[in-house]
Amino acid sequence: MAIIGIRRLRYAVSDTSVARRFFTDFGLAPAGNERPGLFTLANGAEVEILGTGDAALAPSDIVGDGVHEVAWGVSDEASLDALAANLGQDHALEQVADGFRVQLFGIPFSFLRWTPQSFANAPDAVNAPGCVRRLNTHRKWRRRARPKVINHVVFRIPDFEEASRFMRARLGFRLSDVQTGFGQYLRASGSNNHHNLLFLNANANFPGCDGQLRFDHANFGVEDIDELMIGANYMVRRGWQPSDIGLGRHRIDSALFYYLPSPAGGEAEYGADADYVDDNWVPREFDVPLFGYSHFTHSVPAFLETEPAWSFKYLTEAQVAEGVAEGMDNV
Ligand SMILES: [Fe+2]
Repeated sequence: MAIIGIRRLRYAVSDTSVARRFFTDFGLAPAGNERPGLFTLANGAEVEILGTGDAALAPSDIVGDGVHEVAWGVSDEASLDALAANLGQDHALEQVADGFRVQLFGIPFSFLRWTPQSFANAPDAVNAPGCVRRLNTHRKWRRRARPKVINHVVFRIPDFEEASRFMRARLGFRLSDVQTGFGQYLRASGSNNHHNLLFLNANANFPGCDGQLRFDHANFGVEDIDELMIGANYMVRRGWQPSDIGLGRHRIDSALFYYLPSPAGGEAEYGADADYVDDNWVPREFDVPLFGYSHFTHSVPAFLETEPAWSFKYLTEAQVAEGVAEGMDNV
């Protein structure tokens, strides 16, 4: 079973025109007039903005605007057949173009045969005193950010641990890291992204967590910190609300981030310089969730006014396998 990453995100929004304008300014390329809500990224992934109640949207239990369907790209027909055979045992599958769709934990997921398009990235070398990797060469100058890939999608979900176990037991996702009582980071088996999916605890004691199934944010990958901040500056110049926190770096996955409040629901995150991992990665548990959240931030939010205690541990193989190896019968 090789799920290789996010093929498409479908948003359900109350105001499609403002959401489409937002993602155009964000740097996504409109696919054309025939499908005005469709945007494409360099690797061929898509974002589709649809109005709430659009016939193309599957029924979902997600509350509020945001992503209402995640389409996973599957590398080959045999893997797609294996996924369908597995899920078809106890779930109703709907055949769609290039694959099938199913509802899990109230979230519509589809699984589509996909070969990503290749693209080029060439991040500038980084200089440091005594370590000159860029002599007589200035960094690239840019006008716009152009996200190349969809790195991950995040939902707040009431039973986030059960949902995580299901993704691992039935769909081959790997556990990358855990924030105790807060969230679980999951990687598709055919991807080296630290995570493609994050399930947050909808009941966590954190702003915006109200116990309901909601879309939280999606992460769009850019080349480096320059492209990330060029994008953020451009969005502010276009009148969009800036991030309260500004530029930051997560400790979990080491990624640079800039979150923009999105009129399509939740937030849209520019991301760069994340950890890439494979099955040699040893998952960690951050029992002080905010220690995992932030390495640094430009503006210190109220919830980080006191530096979190330094604390984490590596999970044992038995802890990682707990509740997964034997599989689960249903969601
Ligand atoms: Fe993120």
